[in-house]
Amino acid sequence: MLDIECAAAGLPKDAPALMERVARSVCRLEGVDGAGAYVRVVDDETIRAVNAAQRGLDRATDVLSFPTVDFRGGTARDNAALIRREYDPDTGLCFLGDIIISIDRAREQADEYGHSLARELGYLTAHAMLHLCGYDHMTDGDRAKMRAMEDRVMADVSLPREGGSLTDGELFERACAMLDMAYAPYSKFRVGACLLTEDGRVFTGCNVENASLGVTICAERTAAVKAVSEGATKFAAIAIAGESGVAWPCGICRQFLREFGPRMRVIVGKKGGKPETAALDELLPHSFGPEDLLK
Ligand code: THU
Repeated sequence: MLDIECAAAGLPKDAPALMERVARSVCRLEGVDGAGAYVRVVDDETIRAVNAAQRGLDRATDVLSFPTVDFRGGTARDNAALIRREYDPDTGLCFLGDIIISIDRAREQADEYGHSLARELGYLTAHAMLHLCGYDHMTDGDRAKMRAMEDRVMADVSLPREGGSLTDGELFERACAMLDMAYAPYSKFRVGACLLTEDGRVFTGCNVENASLGVTICAERTAAVKAVSEGATKFAAIAIAGESGVAWPCGICRQFLREFGPRMRVIVGKKGGKPETAALDELLPHSFGPEDLLK
């Protein structure tokens, strides 16, 4: 999918395969089959020259992306028909655009965050591929949506965020971004959740309703099941955002979360408002857990 050309020294051997996996993950999540993009890995001096020529900004940067498809304010996921029209019958590919990455900047950022250069190149590829798919970070809401997708992609390729974990405010921001994914045609009460595990991984969720109303799954349990199914069974915190009102977790969710985080933080608020925080053992006192079965 990616045509990677490296015009600078020091590209780690494992980086191209990782960048390819990242690009495939973005396209799978965005529903684009058979996409193509051109990636050039260069030094600071080259990216500075491109930045000056293309954007009038005479300075180096970490990554530049030049989309070829205009998703008209949405992302690829909302524009299946547009993507079908973009397929080139000769190559069978939908060419999404060009990406330029500075290996010098990537190396500096990898050192700063204390992770490998390959991981940073993978992250920058995720960021740039999301731009090619129509994501942007001009407004707070757009930035939160893009960050949530970056986390989804990095977790998908098994490179979850290392080092400094998210703040409660950032968790809440991501829970708000998940409101767009809620499937709530019956109650119209949209809920988004963002779960932080003790090993620093982040899993998002939304409520998923059903015509058989009792089958509905709350946002908290969607996030929890995603985490446990990826091997993360120790929870540190969950943020829960309601669109039209504050959604403290229901009784079933309190019990469900208790199994994996008896004293986890629960951050609850309405989109646009200031969230409140409580500990799960305050919300579910005298609870029953796995230890009780051993007594
Ligand atoms: N809901 C949640 O997702 N989380 C909560 O903590 C409370 C309720 C959802 C379930 C249903 O889709 C809708 O809100 C109305 O009950």
